[in-house]
Amino acid sequence: MTKTYQFPKGFLWGGATAANQIEGGFEEGNKGMNVADVLPGGKGRLQILTQPGFDFHLHPEQYYYPNHEAIDFYHRYQEDIALFAEMGFKAFRMSIAWTRIFPNGDETEPNEEGLAFYDRVFDELHKHGIEPVVTISHYEMPLHLVKEYGGWRNRKVVTFFERYVKAIFARYKDKVKYWMTFNEINSGLIMPINGLGFAIEKEEDKYQPTFQAYHHQFLASAIAVKTGHEIIPGSQIGCMILFAPVYSYDSNPENVMHALQEEQLFNYYCADVQVRGEYPAFLNRYLKEHDIELDIEEGDLELLKEGTVDYIGFSYYMSRTEKKVKTEEEATEGNIVGGVRNPFLEASDWGWEIDPVGLRIALNKLYDRYQLPLFVVENGLGAYDKVEEDGSINDEYRIGYLRSHIQAIGEAIEDGIDVMGYTSWGCIDMVSMSTGEFSKRYGYIYVDKQDDGSGSLERKRKNSFFWYKDVIASNGNKL
Ligand code: BG6
Repeated sequence: MTKTYQFPKGFLWGGATAANQIEGGFEEGNKGMNVADVLPGGKGRLQILTQPGFDFHLHPEQYYYPNHEAIDFYHRYQEDIALFAEMGFKAFRMSIAWTRIFPNGDETEPNEEGLAFYDRVFDELHKHGIEPVVTISHYEMPLHLVKEYGGWRNRKVVTFFERYVKAIFARYKDKVKYWMTFNEINSGLIMPINGLGFAIEKEEDKYQPTFQAYHHQFLASAIAVKTGHEIIPGSQIGCMILFAPVYSYDSNPENVMHALQEEQLFNYYCADVQVRGEYPAFLNRYLKEHDIELDIEEGDLELLKEGTVDYIGFSYYMSRTEKKVKTEEEATEGNIVGGVRNPFLEASDWGWEIDPVGLRIALNKLYDRYQLPLFVVENGLGAYDKVEEDGSINDEYRIGYLRSHIQAIGEAIEDGIDVMGYTSWGCIDMVSMSTGEFSKRYGYIYVDKQDDGSGSLERKRKNSFFWYKDVIASNGNKL
């Protein structure tokens, strides 16, 4: 007999998205341009995100920009939310596009059309009994702030962000209870364009600007938590980190130490500040060794203490295996967080290593360290899907992936861990963040949109749609 799991009552089952990857309507409703709007489609995108020297300009003669139309959620949100409701979603994770509310980022008054759009979306969700879980900033900094201010390098951006969060908290205080500050905040260590809103210059040393920008983001996050609690009593405001547990390649203590340090920096540095309200001890040595001098003003450290988060949201796609000295042949192809190939794991078509046990490990590690409620706000399999002649989409590979990861959460709950919910990534097909492809599909709902921008945008239910509906209806008993 297959094992069944006891998910808590009120567990937030649902799906996750980001404004720039679903909405489209990139110039509608007075929206301003953001970072995602200037990212071209295609596998070269990852290089832009991770390498120095991006110019943040559009080159329409050379590239296609998939985020401009995305999957047109901007006009089709009612149809999409009805499909989420049909699956029985309890929660829907989405983000607000900062540039719909403050098109340039540095205005003093918010844009009413943008505010009204999200009013309509939240109302539609509530009409179906779906709780919105809102990321305040998901990889879409206003382009004007990038070009004129240097993104999060500049402390002035903290004030602009404060204006933005106050505007959305005040407007949506009766509609949104669950918030998260910055999506995958730690990813700026590998993708500064997405996470920190600037590109490293070609000849520039990355360390000083990166860690100073992080200090600004931590202040902004603390302000968001503090003001959120004031404006919306009872609100739950979390951080959001990309968590990929780091394994040592073998028992060589040098490799074990290296894996530990990679884990500290990548997995824990940001969360430590946002959860504990202070910089971790291990960071001091790292700052010294990389000649980083943080400009910390009077009152900053107190503010960090006052703005600690209520829960930890995290994404989980893969684990990472580390070795102190690695050859090029050993390096993983595609595993976005790097490391060496793990001989025990299979990888997706994009090279992301599939490791459900790693999710149980992640939950245990995070709970051991922080003892805060955990929310798995992203997890899923990017895969090629085929529409059969009869219109069906048989994505058994996706069901297998999701089942094994949900089982891992069930095991972690038995381990005694407080897990609030599970919103799998890309509940509807959308633009891929790292490659700008539509063909890297995560959804329960297929969207007819192809990598060259063609397609009718018609929505279709995949087999996983019906499977997930049963999972939710049985509160995780029927997997
Ligand atoms: C996460 C991001 O890193 O992974 C999402 O928060 C992203 O924005 C998701 O879409 C999956 O990555 P990708 O590159 O396959 O879209």
